[in-house]
Order: sequence, then C-alpha cells, then structure tokens
Amino acid sequence: MAYRSLREFLDRLETAGELVRVKEPVDPVLEMAALADRAAKQGGPALLFENVKGRAPGGFPVAMNLFGTRRRTSWALSSEDFEEHARELRALLHMAPPQSLWDKLKMLPKLGKLATMTPKHVSSAASQEVVVREPDLGILPVLTTWPHDGGPFITLPQVITRDPETGIRNVGMYRLQVLGPRRLAMHWQLHKTATAHYRAYQKRGERMPVAIALGGDPALTYCASAPLPPNVDEYLFAGFLRGEAVRMAKGVAVDLDVPADADLVIEGYVDTSAPLVREGPFGDHTGFYSLADDYPALDVVAVTHRRDPIYPATVVGPPPVEDQWLGKATERMFLPMLQMIFPEIVDMAMPVEGVFHNLCLVSIRKDHPGQAKKVIHGLWGSGQMAQTKTLVVFDEDVDVQDVSQAAWRAFANVDVKRDLVIADGPVDVLDHAASHFAFGGKIGVDATRKWTEEGGREWPEVCVHPPEVVARMDALYARLVPGAENPRRPRIAPPPAASWTPRRGGILQ
Ligand SMILES: Cc1cc2nc3c(=O)[nH]c(=O)nc-3n(C[C@H](O)[C@H](O)[C@H](O)COP(=O)(O)O)c2cc1C
Repeated sequence: MAYRSLREFLDRLETAGELVRVKEPVDPVLEMAALADRAAKQGGPALLFENVKGRAPGGFPVAMNLFGTRRRTSWALSSEDFEEHARELRALLHMAPPQSLWDKLKMLPKLGKLATMTPKHVSSAASQEVVVREPDLGILPVLTTWPHDGGPFITLPQVITRDPETGIRNVGMYRLQVLGPRRLAMHWQLHKTATAHYRAYQKRGERMPVAIALGGDPALTYCASAPLPPNVDEYLFAGFLRGEAVRMAKGVAVDLDVPADADLVIEGYVDTSAPLVREGPFGDHTGFYSLADDYPALDVVAVTHRRDPIYPATVVGPPPVEDQWLGKATERMFLPMLQMIFPEIVDMAMPVEGVFHNLCLVSIRKDHPGQAKKVIHGLWGSGQMAQTKTLVVFDEDVDVQDVSQAAWRAFANVDVKRDLVIADGPVDVLDHAASHFAFGGKIGVDATRKWTEEGGREWPEVCVHPPEVVARMDALYARLVPGAENPRRPRIAPPPAASWTPRRGGILQ
C-alpha cells in the first residue's frame, strides 16, 4: 500500500496503536531528541509533537521515531515485513540474463514490475500548495539533538541532486546544518554520490541545483538512505517498494524534479566556487560527536510545502537508535544483490553495536580453501561495503543474526596468527579512530572451520543433541515448566565440503 502523504502513514500507525500524540509542550532544542531516543531504545511508539515549545513561526508538528521498530519500518516500505521485498528482488535479479552484476543493476529499471515504476510527472503538487520565495528557514521546527551540536540540524532529508554529465538523479540522506535564515551546510561525505555531483559541477564552473524533500511517503525517506549504485534512481526503487510510481513535479525555483506528495521542499543552489563552510560538531550514530569539518553551503531560494505539513526528524546517537531499522531493511534487501557477486554468501548481519560500518558478520557455503578470505577482500571492494572496518566470515551453520552465537564461534575458531587479514583502505568518514581522515586499518576474520589446506588440524564438531531426543525432551520440559520458550540452539552443520577430499595439487578426484 503506497501512502500519498506522511499523514496517511501516521493515520495507519494511529489506528494500529503505534502513534502517540504529544500534546505537552516539548522543546525542539534537546527535549524532543531525549524523548524520541528513549522511545526508540525501548521499541516504543512513533511520536507526533503537536505542541512545539518556542513554536517556529510555521507552527508545523514534528514526527519522530517513525521507523522505530521492524514492524513500522516494514509498513513504511508498504510491506508486512521488508523480507518480502528481499525475496522479490532476488527473483527479479535472477530474471536478468547472465551478465555482470553491474549490468544487471543497470537493467533493473527495465525488469518486471520495476519497468512500470519510473517516477511520473504530475502538473499539480501537494508539496507546492504553499510557495515561499526568499524564505526564512526559521519557519521549520529544526531540532538540536545533543548539547554540543554546532546548531540545529535537519536529520531526515531526501537531498536531490543530478549528475550534470549523465542527467541521472541521486537522492541521498545527508544531514543539513541550519547556518542562517537561507543557508544550509551540506554534509555529503567524501564517498557519497552528491559529492561526485558537486565535483562535476565544480569542474564545469557551474553552480549546483539542489532540492531537499521532507516527509511524504516514508518509503522515499528510506530510499534516500539506501546504498544504491549511482546509476539507479532512488525514486525508482521507492516506486518498486511502494508498488506505485513516485509522482514528481517541477521545482518552483531550480531545474530539478521534486516529489509531489512530500510535506516540505527546500530549493537552492550550491556555489561550487565558494569557500567551504564549517559544519558540526554533531552527535552522530557512532554515539560520539563527529568533529566539525568543512562542507559546501546551500543558498536557499525557495521553500514550498503542503498547507498542513508535518516535519519529520530522527535522533542519532549511541546505539540502538531509530536508524538501526533503516540499516536492517538495507541489510535484508541488499543481500540478494551481494549474493549475485558472491553466490557463496548465505546470510549477513550488521549488529547495531557496529553502527553499520564497524562490523559485518557473513556466513558462507565454503567449498574451497581460502574462500573466507576471498569474500573478505571482495566485500571490501563492493560499494559502501568498502568502508566496513571489521568483517567476520563464518560457515553456513552459524546463525549470524544471533550475535552471541557468532561471537562464540569466532572466539573459538580463530588462530589469530593465521586467520586475520589486516589491511588498510577507505574507512567511514565518521570513524574517529582511523589514523587518517577516511583512511585507516581494517580487519577481516576467517572464523570458518579450517581445512587441512588452510593449516587446520583435525577439526571438532559442535556438540548437538540428537533432534529426536530434543523433540521428546522439549515436550517433557514444557510439561515440567509450563510456558517456557525453547532456547535458540546451534544449527546442525552440514557435512564439510572438504569431504570432496581434493588430491594434493587441487585436482578433484
Ligand atoms: C539517519 C541517517 C543520517 C545520515 N546522515 C548522513 C550524512 O550526514 N552524510 C552522509 O554522507 N551520509 C549520511 N547517511 C548515510 C547515507 O544516507 C547513505 O550512505 C546513502 O546510501 C548515501 O546515498 P548515496 O550513495 O546516494 O550518496 C545517513 C544515513 C541515515 C540513515
């Protein structure tokens, strides 16, 4: 079910008892963030702040914790569970004729349901019901989330830019610091697509048009955070998720299309010849303040909005925070794409403690020596996975979604002299521990059972009760301790592929 507005999504949440209207006065400076963070940490409801303290002149309500649970994020993506999208994507990718993954991704817009999901133009847009030229960003209830933040930040934006060479649109979620009534600092990081666009405009000696959409169908907000390749339009992907093409209208001031059903749109230009401006510090999803740094500035020329817009915001900070669910949706939906390049990958997990880039756990179906290390090197070369600091690879019988089980296997299965890959390369811009900005050390850990060819000795099996005994004893336990839940148990390992018994020299018998 596609939502025509953020309000429509909120109505659905309210009917399901997943929305709380906050009628008490709450300050966008520090207070909203503290309340929403608490709700997010406890899997609590979405919040609609209707009485914004020190009300910004616009008087707009603020919606937070929209994506605060797996269920709400799934609903936001027009599904009962976002795993459904992963299944559909897997099927779609298999439809494409055999070719490189890159070509497959380029073909995505032409495949099946996606072919009809190209964003479509409409002449009248709810997001432009009110047009304010020479606006004052002070009309927006922009939050300051942490005490040492450099100022107020817009935290859930869809930043729309266009490649001046190819004309392909990009939509990215990059926080924006409000520097003045008509100025924003653009925190698009070094490795992100909008940075490439900025450089391309700079090379051509041109100013860069930018539109920033807020609200509308939450699937569009999610898509701004999705790590799609630069040639795939995020709004096409949003169309696929919501099952209906995204409606777009011409911007009122810049030559870019904007979502017709958004709540608010900010339009402006980045002067690519102007000096950069100071951005930050900002309490980030690493749980630390990201340091102040220099970024381009946007000069805002127009703000348009619905007659009754809702301003969406999130708070990032020490995990777990709301955006863990955006990350989880990405992990599930991008797994099929990674499996096209690495068919041996069975599952992957990015535990919240690793805040996306610090830790990735991968299980593989191993059928040759050194395969875990191949996967480590390969993932370090795949899109935004390149910034993963710690990659741990397991055999397929390890449930990587169970961090405790994965940790047990990793500690047990690793000879630290033999099984670590220590390298350096690009790391996340937010990695404050890296020796240099955006460049530093990385570690890959081969936590699979080691074959003889890999220097393993005789390898013991995991202790597992016989399944028929477990079934009988579970039934007995349920009678002895009524209401008790069954524990998570290690999976039964399939026979090691090493039973192929390769001859010395590697030729199979
Ligand atoms: C809540 C949230 C805030 C984010 N803030 C930023 C940011 O300020 N700068 C940035 O470069 N990436 C940020 N990201 C990550 C990007 O949105 C993400 O890497 C996205 O895939 C970038 O899109 P691109 O590949 O089109 O550049 C944020 C993600 C989330 C979920």
